[in-house]
Amino acid sequence: MASGAKAGGPPGRRGGRAVLASRAVSRNLADPLVSQPGPDEAQNGFPPLPAAPSGEGFAAPSAAPRPVPPGRSIVLVGMPGAGKSAIGRRLAARLGLPFLDADTEIENAAGMTVAEIFARYGEAHFRDGERRVIARIAAGPPVVLATGGGAYVDARTRRALREAGAVTLWLRADVPVLKRRIAGRSNRPLFIGREPEEVLRGMMQARYPFYAEADIALDCGEDTPEVTTIRAERAIAGWQRPARLPVALSANAYEVVVGSGLLPRAAGLLSPHLPSRRVAIVSDASVAALHLPVLRAGLLEGGFDIRAEVTVPPGEGSKRLSMLEEVLEGILAAGADRKTSVIALGGGVVGDLAGFAAAVALRGMPFVQIPTTLLAQVDSSVGGKTGVNLRAGKNLAGAFHQPRIVLADTDTLATLPARELRAGWGEVAKHGLLQGPLWEWCEACGPAAMAGDPEALRHAVLESCRLKSGVVVADEREEAPEGGRALLNLGHTFAHALEAECGYDGTLLHGEAVAVGLGLAASLSARLGHCAQEWPGRVMEHLAAVGLPARIQDLPRGFSAEALLGRMRKDKKVRDGAMRFVLLRGAGEAFTTADVPAEAVEALLRDEGAA
Ligand SMILES: NC(=O)c1ccc[n+]([C@@H]2O[C@H](COP(=O)([O-])OP(=O)(O)OC[C@H]3O[C@@H](n4cnc5c(N)ncnc54)[C@H](O)[C@@H]3O)[C@@H](O)[C@H]2O)c1
Repeated sequence: MASGAKAGGPPGRRGGRAVLASRAVSRNLADPLVSQPGPDEAQNGFPPLPAAPSGEGFAAPSAAPRPVPPGRSIVLVGMPGAGKSAIGRRLAARLGLPFLDADTEIENAAGMTVAEIFARYGEAHFRDGERRVIARIAAGPPVVLATGGGAYVDARTRRALREAGAVTLWLRADVPVLKRRIAGRSNRPLFIGREPEEVLRGMMQARYPFYAEADIALDCGEDTPEVTTIRAERAIAGWQRPARLPVALSANAYEVVVGSGLLPRAAGLLSPHLPSRRVAIVSDASVAALHLPVLRAGLLEGGFDIRAEVTVPPGEGSKRLSMLEEVLEGILAAGADRKTSVIALGGGVVGDLAGFAAAVALRGMPFVQIPTTLLAQVDSSVGGKTGVNLRAGKNLAGAFHQPRIVLADTDTLATLPARELRAGWGEVAKHGLLQGPLWEWCEACGPAAMAGDPEALRHAVLESCRLKSGVVVADEREEAPEGGRALLNLGHTFAHALEAECGYDGTLLHGEAVAVGLGLAASLSARLGHCAQEWPGRVMEHLAAVGLPARIQDLPRGFSAEALLGRMRKDKKVRDGAMRFVLLRGAGEAFTTADVPAEAVEALLRDEGAA
């Protein structure tokens, strides 16, 4: 039975039970990030321009304007008093771009002040004009544009900015700072005759969920405008638009978003894809301790209601029926309904378990994958296979349940133990062998990726997801008589048998088992005359180069060929009693077959190190 724990407290016990924290989560509108301290020059709004950057707390900024990617406007969004105009002007000067203030543009176009437009025609009329002006500016040459506080709340404005390729930057500051900055500004229609703090809090509640969709969020707090400008410039320079890969299934299409810095932005990335802002998060204790606080803070700020946080012990042992029951109880006891989305935050174990829970709870709840291992980012989070292991074998109870969206934040890989990172490469190498040119890239760049090169990791995730998504779209439920989704099982008949023999005790990680399986599949292909004799050596050489085992004899324990064969005969890939294998003619030329004599498999297992 699940036991209660305060969300955000110490990670769950590792005693083999799920840990549940379900609560009525209060909205936390305070700035969750620590601001760089700076002299408070902003008692009554920002000081006038120009001012030399103080650079306080930072390396001296370069004097020369930095180039921004051509054709992109920078659009500042945020609350009144956040500093959009003051920062925008300074940023434009540093970037060598024109600065425009949307309110001024509207006033010029209308020939009257914003307050007059509000008074004479009402807010709806003003918003209409605001939307048109922003869309026109966004479609033109690049500028730095400061928008009014309510502009980004409009879905059409957000879409126009996205479609124009603008980079949106949300400037965040907390209530006391905003209150101080707007004091004495008499021309803000929404504040006239009202208590500013109350107005600000109401606005935050209504607007933060939309601001959360901005590309970059920057806490400016008490910083001077100069410091915030430098931080904004750096954030823009270091920002890379996440890649969005469509998984174009006819009934359940979704996107895989791959990039860095996605976890803190999860609210904005998820909300357009979910039926409500109610969620239940399932994670494992190790991942929860590392990454749940960032996800939680971002979701709460974006107006999400986190109904439950369920953590399970890390490792394959959690992919079992009794843990599924605990996860289900945890989610449902917290009052989740069919519009509550289950978020899996973790590796393949959490993804498979939480996905299965989402598939069967209330006969199906919406599901989100936020994979945090390389293996989960390149493979298990895409394709909708969910399930748990039984004593009879791996993944034998499960369901197809596609996620609504996958957020693969490659930053989370930085905390992954090296062995787990390598294990994930087993699936990348598999995708390389299935795809062709990706295999040559793996041979060239695998060692760099394993050394943590972020660009190589991003490429591996992106290209793996591209390959997997194509295969899944063509054969979602693995029903093709030949080829199709079953090709993704390259190396897996062997791998599952090896894992089952180890009892999922951590001796052999799934990706390591896949690596040995790839070596065995290449050897079997060569022995049966399907591929050139050089292939097994080439595959094994690459696996060794990235630190993966490639042969049974590389593993730290012994295996019996007979026992392995027994396991393979029970694998769910067996059809009409015949074992099925995925074999290779070369990279990019895999095929499925049941035409493999058991004696050939047994001889191979013995030659490769099984007793
Ligand atoms: N559904 C599918 O299509 C599919 C495909 C391939 C594999 N799988 C399944 O995936 C599972 C293996 O997944 P896995 O390799 O991700 O294992 P895992 O989920 O057990 O994660 C491995 C370990 O890494 C830790 N971890 C995860 N993310 C971390 C991070 N960012 N920083 C630090 N530690 C982190 C976890 O706590 C765990 O201890 C297997 O059960 C396999 O059957 C499923």
